[in-house]
Amino acid sequence: MNKAGLEDVVASQTAISYIDGQKGDLFYRGYHINDLAEHANFEQTAYLLWFGDFPTEEQYRRVCGLVHDQLGLPKEMMAILFDLPDTAGPMQALRTAISALALHDPEANDNSPEANQQKAMHLMAHFPEIVAANYRIATGQWPLQPMERCGLAANFLWLLKGCEPEPLHVEAMDKCLVLHAEHGLNASTFSARVAASTLSDMYSAVTAALGTLLGPLHGGANQHVMEMLVEVGDPKHAEAYVKNALANKQRIMGFGHRVYKVEDPRAIILREISKELCEQTGNIKYYEISEKIREVTYAEKGLYPNVDFYSATALHALGIKTELFTTIFAVSRVVGWTAHVMEQHADNRLIRPRSEYIGHKNRTFTPIPGCRQAYH
Ligand code: ACO
Repeated sequence: MNKAGLEDVVASQTAISYIDGQKGDLFYRGYHINDLAEHANFEQTAYLLWFGDFPTEEQYRRVCGLVHDQLGLPKEMMAILFDLPDTAGPMQALRTAISALALHDPEANDNSPEANQQKAMHLMAHFPEIVAANYRIATGQWPLQPMERCGLAANFLWLLKGCEPEPLHVEAMDKCLVLHAEHGLNASTFSARVAASTLSDMYSAVTAALGTLLGPLHGGANQHVMEMLVEVGDPKHAEAYVKNALANKQRIMGFGHRVYKVEDPRAIILREISKELCEQTGNIKYYEISEKIREVTYAEKGLYPNVDFYSATALHALGIKTELFTTIFAVSRVVGWTAHVMEQHADNRLIRPRSEYIGHKNRTFTPIPGCRQAYH
């Protein structure tokens, strides 16, 4: 039977994350997202998602060292970024750069667990560098070298902005990265697994995932949330905006979810982060607009905010440009994608569903006189 959008179809087994959409719970490798956001940093979370357990102190230091050693983009990659046309958006640039990055990795086509682990760390290290370098080039600034001895969240803020980030901002960015890192068989992860199931390589799978993430119904929503908040402009206009949008059958970006029937647990955590950052940075107006939109959207349509809703105001308060929001999601989610590619390669069967045919049947062909000869 055809299930539109594959809703509720179980297409694979996974031990990476579990979502209880009825209760609003999310677990990475059996750990609740609330505990991870509170206690684990992004590097530890990546290790957990890739290897199934938290690292010991020694393993943690080794992996951080390995990721740090990968930092520094090859000059050929920089040349690609400098050559991109002005029309290339940040996600298009990232997708192009990741595809090109494979050409500089001699192990790109090696799907062994060891080579895949190496590539996962390589990708985790290079994603923030590419996003930041491309942003700086596009805005007429020189790309920066990563800082020594600091975590990925702090380094990412430094590479983007060129000033040492405040501890509160590093913590907020780190939590955002933890919260976005993995989410079951969402559309982009499914793309990655389909590509991996053909025994294609990790770079190709991640490139496919990037192309899937950028759409407005998936990772592109956070950017549209911020654009909506700017358009609304004042909490007192929020009610009319939502009612008018719904009356015109428009979607309120950052609301609704295929799996969660209650509030997305990541949105609950991000709401707190957003509030604190908006208060601290003089952006409380955007938080207040968000709250009003939440109230009206629930009253009118019974929809709850998803992960994209409050991440928009949190990222805005961190001083990150709206057009970069989806790439920030990607910087985090690459960890989940690579964990799924490894899981798929470890026990592979080609993912190849069927479609229900609804087109014409048994049509009579009428040849166009002479068209064959035209090619001889
Ligand atoms: N605004 C208004 N109405 C909505 C919204 C929304 N954000 N989301 C769902 N609905 C309505 C639909 O119009 C439809 O109503 P109807 O039955 O009266 O026609 C009903 O809810 C079901 O909608 P579907 O599209 O069938 O639900 P689906 O499970 O396919 O959609 C999705 C999930 C795509 C996330 C949807 O809620 C949406 O478009 N949200 C806005 C975009 C967004 O925030 N995306 C980010 C999702 S999280 C992530 O990818 C990281």
